[in-house]
Amino acid sequence: MCGIIGYIGERPACEVIVKGLRRLEYRGYDSAGIVTGDLKGLHIRKGAGRIDELVKRVDLLSMPGNRGIGHTRWATHGVPNDINAHPHSDCTGKIALVHNGIIENYEPIRRELLEKGHNFRSDTDTEVIAHLIEEELKTAGDFETALRRALTKLKGSFALGIIYADEPDRLYFVRNESPLVLGIGEGENFAASDVPAFLEYTNRVIFLDDGEYAVITKDSWEVKNLKTGERVEKGIQTIEWSLEMAEKSGYPHFMLKEIYEQPKAIKDAIYGNLELIPKVAREIAGYEKMYFVAMGTSYHAALVGKYLFQRLTKRVPVVEEASEFRYEFEDLVDDKTLVIAITQSGETADTLAAMKLAKSKDAKVLAIVNVVGSMATRIADITLYTHAGPEIGVAATKTYTTQLVILTLLAIEIARILKTAEKEFLDLLEKELNNVPDIVSSILELNEGIRELAENLKEKRDVFYIGRGIGVPTALEGALKLKEISYIHAEGLSAGELKHGPLALLEEGVPLVAVAPPGKTLNKLIGNIEEAKARGARTIVVGSSEELKRVADTLIAMPPVEELLSPIPYVIPLQLIAYHLAVLRGNDPDKPRNLAKSVTVE
Ligand code: G6P
Repeated sequence: MCGIIGYIGERPACEVIVKGLRRLEYRGYDSAGIVTGDLKGLHIRKGAGRIDELVKRVDLLSMPGNRGIGHTRWATHGVPNDINAHPHSDCTGKIALVHNGIIENYEPIRRELLEKGHNFRSDTDTEVIAHLIEEELKTAGDFETALRRALTKLKGSFALGIIYADEPDRLYFVRNESPLVLGIGEGENFAASDVPAFLEYTNRVIFLDDGEYAVITKDSWEVKNLKTGERVEKGIQTIEWSLEMAEKSGYPHFMLKEIYEQPKAIKDAIYGNLELIPKVAREIAGYEKMYFVAMGTSYHAALVGKYLFQRLTKRVPVVEEASEFRYEFEDLVDDKTLVIAITQSGETADTLAAMKLAKSKDAKVLAIVNVVGSMATRIADITLYTHAGPEIGVAATKTYTTQLVILTLLAIEIARILKTAEKEFLDLLEKELNNVPDIVSSILELNEGIRELAENLKEKRDVFYIGRGIGVPTALEGALKLKEISYIHAEGLSAGELKHGPLALLEEGVPLVAVAPPGKTLNKLIGNIEEAKARGARTIVVGSSEELKRVADTLIAMPPVEELLSPIPYVIPLQLIAYHLAVLRGNDPDKPRNLAKSVTVE
């Protein structure tokens, strides 16, 4: 997992690149580096640490040249240190490159190149690429041919940015299973792992597909096929996200900003899909065999989707982690299967692999995606966008609630087609969904109270989250949010499971968060909360029923909402609890340790 940004034009390249790297830090932040080129050759500065530290330590902002490439790293091969930081270069120092992804066959290539006398400096898989191009250049007539010959020998995932000292007017960018997008400017061009990296300069973009590479100069761009070297026709798309949307807008952290963006994001998800949903629903309503595949928070959205589909369409989708599905479900998928892949980034390696498996078996694939033009959208037969805008915080918030909007709309519409629920009830749900943005806004007003609650929890070691029915995925998501950013151990489970083990862990003062929306099992859940309380648990209850006051040490009072819509508003206090606990414990909620925003390797 890494971020790439390249620039060629009239500006000092290092300035554009440092800005871009700051915006890409969510992709990885254990080390970073830049290569620039001028008439004297290439200049590389790099090291372990965050961009801002490196700006000071190796003076990234004083590098010469009007073309260059930067990289922010999240280590896969080779520990994060100064030497393993990208860019990497060949023996001559004339070729330098940065890489996002994993080269699976780097060991044999490295051995072969060592035998041929190449001198390796790092432990990375990336460095072999520079030497491999150097080797091919000995026999190829020109650099581009050498590049193509070298790259077709690689197995694995890679997005690359490459600079060659002897071609001072150009940069090369290659995509294979890792994201890469070109930014087209006036007298300058860009390339990056993600649009916000250069959005300040241009919103005209070209998404590269797997097996393609681009040659950019300051005044031109060309996309070609890696195998054949033939030109590929590509269209320029215009991105409507403003840079401000991709920045913090005055909030201390992206995560808090993104939590507060939810009323707007939910509205956009509803209105952005109003026309499409009935069409898509008609296309997929006939499928009885349904799999929902996803990872992380998107997986929890899939679990909510399961409850919605069960209740409204009377069909039972199988929900599977994509990492399991890709290996375990091979024989179960056929052309009568519908696979719904849910992925914020559209680049999660396991989710893409699950989708590819489904496609190879002629299943119908629907993707629910946030990032426009991402790989998932190109694999899928149909894509529905969450329209949440860029999400920079590693912990997903607004992309989760917008995924839930789409699943709700789909379930309602399919239920209409199949006539599996009362029309009046479906109309009511749809109407109330339109009120959810306002409901979420009112919950955000509880922020200060939740921050105070977090003050009292900050020294706790474990927190338990329970729910029943459609509240279960919310409990799981609350626990995931807490552990990923506050580093407090958290477990989410269905309340019925409490007695089968976890109750043994409850002792005086252990916090137990109960997700308690209205519904047919609320009384059962109240019984479970009582049991936990009797063992000394400190109960924090999220709900609207009067009866909850009796069992709650702290009640987070929710406005009334239909049970089936409750997962959207009920997750908001849990996001805020996790956010405040992370901040109170001195963590950066936007950049949790060991985690990355999009997991583009298996
Ligand atoms: C990572 C992120 C999570 C996200 C998961 C799935 O673990 O940190 O926030 O839920 O990947 O990502 P996707 O982009 O496929 O939704």
